[in-house]
Parts: sequence; structure tokens; C-alpha cells
Amino acid sequence: MLTQIQTEQFKIKYLQTLGEINEQEVSLYEDIKEGLNQRPKRLPSQYFYDDHGSELFEKICELPEYYPTRTEASILNQYAEEIAEITGTCELVELGSGSSTKTRLLLDAYEKKNNVFKYMPIDVSAGILKESAIQLQQEYTSLQIEGLVGTYDQALSQLNSTSCSARMIFFLGSSMGNFKPDECDRFLDKITQVLSKGNYFLLGIDLQKPQSILEAAYNDSQGITAAFNLNMLAHLNDKFQGNFDLNSFEHQAVYNQEKKQIEMYLISKKSQEVTLKNLNVKVDFQEKERMLTEISRKFDLEQIAEQLESKQLNTLKVFTDPNNWFALILCQCSK
Ligand code: AVI
Repeated sequence: MLTQIQTEQFKIKYLQTLGEINEQEVSLYEDIKEGLNQRPKRLPSQYFYDDHGSELFEKICELPEYYPTRTEASILNQYAEEIAEITGTCELVELGSGSSTKTRLLLDAYEKKNNVFKYMPIDVSAGILKESAIQLQQEYTSLQIEGLVGTYDQALSQLNSTSCSARMIFFLGSSMGNFKPDECDRFLDKITQVLSKGNYFLLGIDLQKPQSILEAAYNDSQGITAAFNLNMLAHLNDKFQGNFDLNSFEHQAVYNQEKKQIEMYLISKKSQEVTLKNLNVKVDFQEKERMLTEISRKFDLEQIAEQLESKQLNTLKVFTDPNNWFALILCQCSK
């Protein structure tokens, strides 16, 4: 059932089914089965984000060890007006909008310059998207908000051409780091497809830095990242009538120097069998077996700029913090 919520002020369109899955939809979840058949086993990171997972992620963003959010916000704080100046009036499309906290820095800058036309937040988590759309509508009364609940792929294929003179898609928080290199390549192809010549893409990326800083950011002392990782199992239990026992798994995050990526695992504390009834899945875990739940790649600025250029996304300007820990790349589509 696809739904649309429309009030006088804002519109939210659901690109995903709500509630229970039916027989035909089981094939949509092949990625889970495939992942569980791989060695090491893996689960798709998108299952972190049910409403509780999104709340936990918001908490992660405020942790002292988790520098990306703060650092990116400081860059936006300093340069949002310059970005608004460069692009001029724009329709703003945000992929993975979450609580839209950092978005406010951009909206403020665009509003100040009378440059914002419409804001389209896109997120898989319906709860957080609706909550933040309501909140934003109260703060930015003249802003037209049109949210999409769905995956990036679903949302990007739904984006019609804009009635505004320009569009800027922005993808903050280094979420692109959660894609494998081939997924990243396909994702950037999609971005280029959706943008017209002269449109903008603003990309936030986490840069390479010492291992100790990276590992601390994903193994925080309050155990919030561990709870976020384990919540994926609770989400799968809910969605697919599963019986993962959250006490029988533990969180681990390590930096893979060779691949330049943090790898998050759930480790089975004992040998056990788990079922996901709705997917007809039965899977065995050995004691100490690791299951990969997320990669978080750390980028090299030159390499990523080259990759963007190969997709006809030409870098106009790079904004960074004084430590060069994080970067925002503003690109323009030349296709
Ligand atoms: C959403 N994404 C960019 C976060 C990251 O840093 O890779 C997800 C995350 N996982 C653990 N902590 C944060």
C-alpha cells in the first residue's frame, strides 16, 4: 500500500510498503538471504534504520568521539552562505535527511539570500521524516516541503524534473562511505542521470585520518554505537518474525587499513541457529563468528574528485575544516 500524507503545508509520499510484508514481497528481501549465505556473513546496512535505529543514530551524532557530524556542521556553519551564493535559487533535495539538523544551516543561508524554492527530504525512516518535516514547516513557514519515504534508489527514480531554475541534491554525513565501491559508482551514475546540466551536487565525505581516532568514533564509551548495531537484529526480528537473541551477539568496529574503511561486525557469542520466519530463512552461527553489518569508507579528496569528474560532476569548490578531517564538495553537472 503506497500512501501519501498531504496537509496544507507539506506533503509526504511513501515509496515503500507500510506494515506487514506479503508473499510476493519476499523476493524484495533477497539481499538478506544472499548476505547470510556469504562468508563472512553480512547484512545490508539499510536495516539499521527503523525508527529506533534512526533515534540511536541521532544520539551517535552527538557523541564526543563521533567527530563527523560536528565537523561537517562547522564547515556548513562557515560556508553555507557561500554555497547559496554560488548556486543561487534552488530546489534542495536531501538524501538521507534524518532529523534535518544540519539542513537548517543550509536552509538559513538560502532563506537569507531568498534562494530557497522547495525542500525535498528523503529518508527510509517514516517517523523521523514526518517529525522533522512538521518541525521544519513551523520554523520555515514559507518553505514548500515535499518528503519522500524510501530508499535512495526508489527516491531518485521518482524525482521528476523540477519547475525551479536549478536543483541541488545534497548528501551529507559521509553516507556515501557506507556504499561499496561498485555501489558508489552506480549511485553517482544515478545522481548524474537525475541532474540536468548546470544543476548541483553537494557531497559530504569523511577523510582518512589516524586509526585511533576512527576506531574510537565507532566504539564509543557509552555503547550507543553498539546498541545501534544490535538494533539491526531487533529490526529484522520485527519485520520478518525473527528470533535473533540480542544478548547473544556483540558489537565490534575495526579499521581496515588496506581498504581504508571502518568495518562494523556483530559477533555471535555462542553457536546458535536463527530463523527469520517470513523469509523462510534458517541460519547457523558458530561461536565467535563475525557478521559484517556496515562499512564506512574514508576518502582521499583527490581520488573522489576524479571519480566525480568521471561522472560529469565537476568540482566547483571544496570546503574543509582546519584538521582536514571532513570535506564538503560542491559539484556542478556538466552533462
Ligand atoms: C550514516 N553513516 C555515514 C554513519 C557512518 O559513520 O558511517 C553510520 C554509523 N555507523 C556507526 N556510526 C555511525
